[in-house]
Amino acid sequence: MSILKKLEIRHPIFVSPMAGTSTPELAAEVSNAGGLGALGLGASSIDNAREQILKTQQLTDQPFQVNFFCHQSVELNQQDAQTWINYLGPAFSKFNAQVPSHLNCIYPSFLDHDDFLQLVLETRPKAVSFHFGIPHPHQIQALKNANILTMVSATNLPEAKAIEHAGIDIIVAQGIEAGGHRGIFNPKLDGAIKTSDLVQLISHHCECPVVAAGGIMNGQQAKQLLKLGAQAVQLGTAFIQCKSSNASAAYRQALFNQPLTQITSSISGRPARGIINQWQSLFDHPDRPCVPAYPYTYDIAKQLHQIASQNGEHGFGAFWAGSHVAQIRELEATDLINQLLLEMSA
Ligand SMILES: Cc1cc2nc3c(=O)[nH]c(=O)nc-3n(C[C@H](O)[C@H](O)[C@H](O)COP(=O)(O)O)c2cc1C
Repeated sequence: MSILKKLEIRHPIFVSPMAGTSTPELAAEVSNAGGLGALGLGASSIDNAREQILKTQQLTDQPFQVNFFCHQSVELNQQDAQTWINYLGPAFSKFNAQVPSHLNCIYPSFLDHDDFLQLVLETRPKAVSFHFGIPHPHQIQALKNANILTMVSATNLPEAKAIEHAGIDIIVAQGIEAGGHRGIFNPKLDGAIKTSDLVQLISHHCECPVVAAGGIMNGQQAKQLLKLGAQAVQLGTAFIQCKSSNASAAYRQALFNQPLTQITSSISGRPARGIINQWQSLFDHPDRPCVPAYPYTYDIAKQLHQIASQNGEHGFGAFWAGSHVAQIRELEATDLINQLLLEMSA
């Protein structure tokens, strides 16, 4: 069955789930335009996640997906944590701010408990997707029993094979161009495959339908990836500028005025691609200490960004963006989808 039939959508265009940037309004606009809307709920509390799902259901009766993180939770190495705190200390002192004394685990993994699973079973979105790994077998079975489609990001062939073997319905092939976190299962193992190569590799070796993600900004690029074997495309960066996203004014400005990106682990503890700012220039020196585990590292980064932005310095934001951000256009979600469709049909 084609991906459009499975998901009951009209167009093979997904907006990426983007924790912190997705909103019910953006998700609903994309779904109402015939694509697949998305909520990035990996960093949300249960109550906030429920609120977002219910709000989206009020705004659209069309299918949308929700997204969670399946990282392996690891215990924090206290020595790494202290070294990292000391390393970032001068940046806090520059704003006369207290340097944090410890790092917190700011959100759990979907693998840690079944509360998010219960929420999904209760609210019944059409599909649920996962980043950084595969849910537990009992979680996949429960979603299947509820007729909720499952999707997992893969960044290489072994991850794609593991996803297929686990019985997941759809593989999201995330290339190295992608904005935001690399979906790699093991943060220390990254083959950095580009989107077009990854789509060909996975679609040749797996039966599951493949969605291409990473660096797609226009319909020509989307059409090319569909030709190479993808059944749909997923775009994140292209939608961040939409009025209905949650991006701050400084983030929006950076997308248009500083459209150069780099992957860094210094912000969250996992590699992620974003606009080059103070993180890369001040902290990513060749001799910098090892970052503590994800999401502990993210805790101190968010605190530094908050303090800095209160002081008018916006260069410590996690302004995630894909490597083709320079091709970004100022278009609202419905217009962007119509434009993509026009370009895809040319
Ligand atoms: C701002 C932003 C936040 C993201 N957050 C998530 C997320 O919460 N979950 C997820 O699975 N992927 C997330 N991603 C990655 C996307 O799923 C996707 O791989 C990426 O947007 C594709 O590349 P593009 O941004 O160049 O279109 C995020 C991407 C961006 C740009």
